Amino acid sequence: GGFTTIDPGYKNTGACESAITFLDGEKGILRYRGYSIEELAEKADFLEVAYLLIFGELPNKAELDKFHADIKKHAVVDDDIKKILDAFPKSAHPMGVLASLTSALTAFNPTSVNVESEEDMYNAIVRILGKFPILVAWTMRKKKGMPLEYGSSSLGYVENILKMMFKHPNEDYVQNPILVNALDKLLILHADHEQNCSTSTVRIVGSSHAGLFASLAAGISALWGPLHGGANQAVLEMLEGIKKDGGDTKKYMGKAKDKEDPFRLMGFGHRVYKNFDPRAKIIKVAADDVLTNLGIEDPILDIAKGLEKEALEDAYFVDRKLYPNVDFYSGIIYRGMDIPTEMFTVMFALGRLPGWIAQWREMRLRKEPIGRPRQLYIGETHRPFKDISKR
Ligand code: CMC
Repeated sequence: GGFTTIDPGYKNTGACESAITFLDGEKGILRYRGYSIEELAEKADFLEVAYLLIFGELPNKAELDKFHADIKKHAVVDDDIKKILDAFPKSAHPMGVLASLTSALTAFNPTSVNVESEEDMYNAIVRILGKFPILVAWTMRKKKGMPLEYGSSSLGYVENILKMMFKHPNEDYVQNPILVNALDKLLILHADHEQNCSTSTVRIVGSSHAGLFASLAAGISALWGPLHGGANQAVLEMLEGIKKDGGDTKKYMGKAKDKEDPFRLMGFGHRVYKNFDPRAKIIKVAADDVLTNLGIEDPILDIAKGLEKEALEDAYFVDRKLYPNVDFYSGIIYRGMDIPTEMFTVMFALGRLPGWIAQWREMRLRKEPIGRPRQLYIGETHRPFKDISKR
């Protein structure tokens, strides 16, 4: 009794204390464990950032080597995972496939289901960091009709992901440093973002003491939606639609402002950032660099820039403090890397994995209670049962 307040969308409700990610939406600041996102994107690699997020400190060389070696031991999946993957139609959305395969891993890794000690947690964490890139790469290879292959243990974490995704059978895979660099950066920028929809999902599922992999599978499903991670796919489809329509950005600006029209400018707006999204700033520059370095001229990039410029000068967007978010330019880089549009949100999941893990681990170590929001009941009061013949 005595419960009176609701907060739809938890716009003003804190769910936990956390020492992982600091975010100031007014100032456009994002820091992982106190390190600024700009510096990490420039100087760190993805695996270091994963270690930092999960364990709280940047690893020294020996710590990083051990972490990587432990992950590599688990860079293999049960052969039956291939059968499960093969059972999906080629048209299946990669996010549905990824969530299913992540769930399926629980069947083949029973020791990772009920974790209690920190050691159990560590083992579950290195397992999933080893296996998840395989699921991601294979989901894409399946989509492209390419045979499934493992990477190689002599490569860096991100290099290995690229090889697993792109190596053609009977051909040597030559690493392209431009791609390694671009993917490293994108994954770092997506690695954590405090209590967003998918992370809150991972924490709330994990709070029932369901295992790490089950909690992650739920997070993947949450990420899929176009209001969240699915926005990167939606942005590219929107830009392609505008291009097909003759590049008339003004028309789409009009649609986005029209309250009768459900169309939203995808990749714009954010629940927390109200001046700019620091990730979007970095990604915009990276998109330019990557396409230039790869020698790609993509008219979609010009449409995106044009749309951004118009929106930033438009009273509707200015008044509502709507700015490009992380998803506005990321898809343009993925496209330049030859990653299919339907895979974009899978790439986001790959980047967010360390954040989900870190938040899950923190929640468990802090012995947080089961997540269980309250409600205000607004339905019928007590009614007598009506027989079916009388309804
Ligand atoms: N286009 C047009 N109008 C918008 C947009 C947009 N993209 N975003 C917000 N608005 C309007 C909205 O209609 C509302 O107007 P009014 O006050 O007149 O009713 C006002 O701005 C506030 O929006 P809101 O929907 O109440 O804000 P929210 O905090 O609930 O939603 C959001 C945040 C990100 C879901 C929303 O801005 C949106 O749908 N953006 C497009 C999808 C997108 O890019 N999502 C990716 C988010 S960043 C990465 C991630 O989380 O994965």
